[in-house]
Amino acid sequence: MRIEFPSLPENVSFARASVGAFVAQLDCTLEEIEEVKLVVSEAVSNCIIHAYDNRSNEKIMVMASIGLERELEILVEDTGKGIADISQAMEPTYSSDETRMGMGFTFMKSFMDNVEVRSIVGEGTSVTLRRTFLYHDKEALA
Ligand SMILES: Nc1ncnc2c1ncn2[C@@H]1O[C@H](COP(=O)(O)OP(=O)(O)O)[C@@H](O)[C@H]1O
Ligand SMILES: [Mg+2]
Repeated sequence: MRIEFPSLPENVSFARASVGAFVAQLDCTLEEIEEVKLVVSEAVSNCIIHAYDNRSNEKIMVMASIGLERELEILVEDTGKGIADISQAMEPTYSSDETRMGMGFTFMKSFMDNVEVRSIVGEGTSVTLRRTFLYHDKEALA
């Protein structure tokens, strides 16, 4: 799936719900879906707040795919200001805005198997989030 939308704050919940609905085909638990929604919210909020400094008419792209072995891959991309020091940005509690918690990347890393950030200052950032879901025995769950 692929969606593209303007950097309006209300589109955080649009992106979150869209990816949540897409992921539901995996028959994963509600808790797992909530975790996926949370990481999408964090990544999309970062585009709005940081990449675009809250300008509302910029473009955000979200892609998601599911592989044959239940590997979920989500890509969140902006063409905003970029990140100069990616490892610093990913440190727990680091934020370039002292009023913020700086925990977005930490949540992404804790709920996903792998988080990859590519960024070019002045060109934009892409965040790739990967997680493989275990099979749930539906009868055991019932
Ligand atoms: N898409 C982005 N574009 C530019 N900078 C970003 C982006 N995402 C994250 N950052 C930078 O990484 C820092 C850490 O992000 P995060 O862990 O989500 O914490 P917070 O959003 O609370 O600052 C941000 O403060 C910002 O400087
Ligand atoms: Mg954040």
